[in-house]
This record gives sequence, C-alpha cells and structure tokens, in this order.
Amino acid sequence: MHLTKKEKNMLEGCEGRGIQRAMEVLSALGKIYNAERLIPVESVQVSGVSFKNLGDAGLEFLEDWAETGVKARVKAFLNPAGMDLMDWRKLGFPEKFAVKQLRLIDVFKGMGLEPQCTCTPYLAGNKPELGEHVAWSESSAVSYANSVLGARTNRESSISALSSALTGLTPEYGLHLDVNRRADYVVDVRPSIRSASDYSALGYMVGKRVGGRIPYFRGLFNPSPDQLKSLGAAMAASGSVAMYHVENVTPEANPDSIKKDTPVLEIEDLAEGYRELNSKTRVIDLVSIGCPHASMEELEEISSLLEGEKVKTALWITTSRYVKQKAEGSGLLDRIQDSGAVVVSDTCMVVAPVEELGFKSMATDSGKMAFYVPSHCGLRVRFGSLRQCINSALSGRWEP
Ligand code: F3S
Repeated sequence: MHLTKKEKNMLEGCEGRGIQRAMEVLSALGKIYNAERLIPVESVQVSGVSFKNLGDAGLEFLEDWAETGVKARVKAFLNPAGMDLMDWRKLGFPEKFAVKQLRLIDVFKGMGLEPQCTCTPYLAGNKPELGEHVAWSESSAVSYANSVLGARTNRESSISALSSALTGLTPEYGLHLDVNRRADYVVDVRPSIRSASDYSALGYMVGKRVGGRIPYFRGLFNPSPDQLKSLGAAMAASGSVAMYHVENVTPEANPDSIKKDTPVLEIEDLAEGYRELNSKTRVIDLVSIGCPHASMEELEEISSLLEGEKVKTALWITTSRYVKQKAEGSGLLDRIQDSGAVVVSDTCMVVAPVEELGFKSMATDSGKMAFYVPSHCGLRVRFGSLRQCINSALSGRWEP
C-alpha cells in the first residue's frame, strides 16, 4: 500500500506510540485487502463499548492506548454501552458493572470520542452525505450508511474504527470502491411488506441465504427510513450484509448496479422468519422496543399506542440520548412515560447485562434483537409487530 511521507512518519512513530499503533492496524488491514492507499474519512463510529463485551482485558488495553495521549482527529461517536449512563441506578444495573462501564466511557472521552452511544448516529447529529467516506463499525449502522444514505464504509472492527478515529484515515478497499458496490443477489419479494417487524422477518430470511453478499430487492414499495433500518439490521445479524439496494428507493439502485448472472431469490411469504425468531413462551417479563435505536417518528407511534394506558410489565424503549433529549423538549417523553414505560438511552438489551436484572423472557419487534438475545443473554424471546409488543406490555402476556 502506498503511504505518503506524513503517513510513513506516523507509522514510524514520529507522532507518538499511540498514532503508531493506529497506523500499524490500518496498514496491516490495507495489506490484507490489497488497498492501494489510505483515504480520509469524515466520521467514525466505534463499537466494542459495553463492558459486558470488553471485560477487564479490553478496558486495560484501551487505557494503555489512551495513556499515549492520542486524540480523535475526526467526529467520532460510540456504539451503545452496557447501560444508561445517567439512569443506570434507577434501572437496577449492578454498581460493580456500572463502575467499570463508566471507566470505559471516560477512556473514550479522554481520547476525544463523543459519548453519543448509539447504533443510529445518522439520527443523532451525524448523517453522512451521498458518496462520503466514513469508518463505522456497528453492523446496522454500516448497512444504513451504505444502502440508504449512499455513504461508504466497510464493516469495521472496533479496533480498526478506533484507529481511523485517531488518524482520520482508512484503507481504500471493499465498499469504498464503486466496483464492490454492485448487487450480486436479486431478491423478488411477493408478499406485501407493511410493518417494521415484517421488514425484520424479511431481513432475517434474506441474510440467512445471502451471507455477506449485496442483495437487490424488487417488490418493496415505499419503505420508510425506519423500516429500512429494521431490514438492514436483521440482514446484518442473520447474515453479514453490509449493503443492499431497493429498486426505486435507495440512491445507488439502478439496473446497472446488478452484476451479470446474479442468482434470484424469491420470497413467497414471511412465515419462516416469524417462526424461527419466536420461542413458545407466553409470559413476558420485558418488552424491548428500539432496535436499532428508535427515531422520533417511532417514539410518536409508540406514544399513540400507549395513550391513556398503563403497562403491567416492563416496557423499555431504547434510543440515543440525542433523540431522548429532543423527545423531552417536545413533551413526547412525558407522554410515553405516563404509561409506566421507560425510555432508556446509551444502551440496548443485547449489550446490557439484562440477564443480571432478573428478566427471563422478552418481547420485541426487532429481528436483530430476537436473533441475538437468546444466545447473548439467555432470555426466551417473542417476536412480533409493535402493536403486539405494546399489547403484551399492557397485559403481561404474549398477545398472539
Ligand atoms: Fe442497536 Fe443493539 Fe439493536 S446496538 S441495532 S439496539 S442490538
């Protein structure tokens, strides 16, 4: 990989041990993927923020890096942490966990990363433009950036994204190049897809089949941005889809964006998705909405479903602190919380230690959440529409 004189100096340690370490990561990546050069990125999103995932070894590794005095050179956000950074005590998170989690956040802050802990940076003040190069690492955020916004990012690891934050650079390979952004799978969708959970079920089924390829959807009419975020999140969970096209919807979808001799997948119905993402539990301890983190529009919809009602079981709605503050300012937060529901920021139920909070079963309208929670947290999961989830929170039982 060709390096400029300045980049070579960074790699040789002229700008300190911390920058040298970041450059070693990026140049190794560039070598592996045959990148010709490094390119600048406008923003970064770093995963690996929850203490549940990182543990003591991860914390010590980051503290050691931070001690070199490195600072982010571009706008850099964080992925969800393991708890709400302000309300953790009220929500019952263990103190022992909280102390370590807060230490981790301090390390990132010390390195100049913004403590916006969200998988939807594009709803929280960092929405890249068409063609903009970024280095993001949370899989649903990567999918949304590439597909819906037309920005360009590979599916970065937490270490490579952090290295990009500290240098402002990424190796130019993969989805940064036009040639790798064409579809290599066509998906014809026959049923009419309506709700976010339908998009989740569809994404789960397609991700399982296409793995890491780029699907081109035909037959989806007018999906909302929130529905597309559900679709991309589920595909990135059951597969490793980092980009997709939707005919007449996403910015890079056109007949030329499909490679020759591409296989065609026909989706006749969504039964497989709904069946495989569901357990048989009837009792629900926790209803979790907001995966990926909820938008203002989703909070409005939840508020109207809850109007005049009181929840019988815990209903946690996860969102970014940015959106929560907007909802607070407009009175929307109070309207939701009047029902007994809680709007939780900075975290999500996959990266939080929910199993330590006493919950045994969960209902969700997110395919990604339903996919990960049984293996990551050991809870039994019910997956269905937003209305079903809200009704379950109101009755304490799964509502078919
Ligand atoms: Fe976001 Fe957590 Fe879902 S990171 S996409 S809310 S699993």
